[in-house]
Amino acid sequence: MSLNTGAEGDPVFARGEIVYHLRIQDDPKQARFRDWLLSDIGKRTIESFAPDQGPPFSASFEVASAEASEVIDGNTALGEALSMTHCGRCHVIGPQNRMNGLGSTPSFAVLRTLPDWDERFQAFFALNPHPAFTQIEGLTPPFDPSRPSPIHPVEMTLDDLDAILAFVSVISAADLGAPLQHQ
Ligand code: HEC
Repeated sequence: MSLNTGAEGDPVFARGEIVYHLRIQDDPKQARFRDWLLSDIGKRTIESFAPDQGPPFSASFEVASAEASEVIDGNTALGEALSMTHCGRCHVIGPQNRMNGLGSTPSFAVLRTLPDWDERFQAFFALNPHPAFTQIEGLTPPFDPSRPSPIHPVEMTLDDLDAILAFVSVISAADLGAPLQHQ
């Protein structure tokens, strides 16, 4: 039996934007546990659990499941950390760095609302202003020695970008708000 944030198994509860799935083996005890988690009593138990830190758990994730087609599989937690490291100096990633993004730079939540957000993120390293300071291992040519990166460069791999895409795919329009009103 395992609990994971990928799409395998049955969605059992959510925390923030992340839906947890329970994968069980062919075992009646495990099936009973899953049924309990999905029952009214199980759901009430999940929702009454108040963690000391971070968002509460929720047993109603219909919205998230309805948007599942837009969700990209991958390590969203890693993607969040990489977004903070590589993009968070300019972009507001979420509540984590709401105060630290550059006002002139669109927040990830705003970019996420664009219908072609995934294409833009997949190609961000080729879209201005990123080429001047971004190196994707094995993909982008090295900086022209006569035009070195003007700032501390963003150096990452395509795997890192995949994780970032997975993270951005689970950002919801609910994270909109302050950044958009400022613009
Ligand atoms: C040094 C600042 C800076 C960093 C670091 C940075 N960006 Fe950006 N990014 C910008 C600015 C400024 C824009 C807006 C460009 C515009 O509006 O023309 C932008 C725009 C974008 C866009 C929209 C591009 C388009 O043309 O539609 C995407 C997608 C994006 N960034 C992704 C990322 C990702 C992913 C990272 C981290 C891996 C990142 N950015 C790191 C400054 C930055």
